[in-house]
Amino acid sequence: MDKITVVGAGHVGASAAQRIAERELAREVLLVDIIDGLPQGKGLDQWESAPVEGFDTRVRGLASYEGTAGSGAYIVTAGLARTPGMSRSDLVTKNAVIIAGIAREIATYSPDAIILMVTNPLDVMSFVAMQTTGFPRERVIGMAGVLDTARFRSFIALELDVSVEDVQALVLGGHGDSMVPLVSSVSVGGIPLDQLMEPDRIEALVDRTRKGGGEIVALLKTGSAYYAPSSAVTQMCEAIVRDKKRVLPCSVWLEGEYGLDGIFMGVPCKLGRAGLEKIYEVELDDDERAALAKSAAEVKETMEALRA
Ligand code: LAC
Repeated sequence: MDKITVVGAGHVGASAAQRIAERELAREVLLVDIIDGLPQGKGLDQWESAPVEGFDTRVRGLASYEGTAGSGAYIVTAGLARTPGMSRSDLVTKNAVIIAGIAREIATYSPDAIILMVTNPLDVMSFVAMQTTGFPRERVIGMAGVLDTARFRSFIALELDVSVEDVQALVLGGHGDSMVPLVSSVSVGGIPLDQLMEPDRIEALVDRTRKGGGEIVALLKTGSAYYAPSSAVTQMCEAIVRDKKRVLPCSVWLEGEYGLDGIFMGVPCKLGRAGLEKIYEVELDDDERAALAKSAAEVKETMEALRA
């Protein structure tokens, strides 16, 4: 890819820009922020690390969008983050205004781009971006499932003292406390999780996963997570740039899949050069289906808050 733009030079955006540059996913990474000086300073600082880290992706900060014209992908991280006691949906109205403004810039300068949404509440912010740009659903994709799944995998690996590489999992649903970690699809080196862990421990890790974002917010006190979120969106970006056809849980616009319509939700997707290339419908048991419906209701409620 020629250019990738990261919108928002806060912790998540700056970390994503750096990870993308270090993996040389594009010829150029542009970091945009409205705070003049911040993206330029962080971009220059990152570029100065290139000779040591050994990457040739140019990193540059910009305070406006003209220079991002023709970007293949935009990773949108701008907006307000949660502070302790705030839910993701408390952010909805303020961030919707910010995201709509950014979406207009993207549609103007890069009408063929793929948008990867990170700003919370991200299922609803993805909807705002799709509505504002008029882009097809293949090109507006929310990041959360990869992050939530990574958290679940990291907790399982710690508990069993095994490599994270051997833990596969899937988390569906909205990126909120009612997300749906699918215990039935967890495998550790091919072994189903329920053969390795007691049900109460599994339940504890499911609960910790659901509250994983809040756990970091409570510890940091002045912000929310960024290392794992930036890793997650970089993996999605890599799947697209390298046309890897990875199967990853992403928040996408559903049109009847899983019995849901007119909502962004986390489901397993194939990501490649075209963006969203396929949605997989996995079979769910009754409990899982009920949990997904509950999570969908939570996302719908946040969408309603937007209309209010
Ligand atoms: C989290 C924020 C990014 O889950 O939603 O950490």
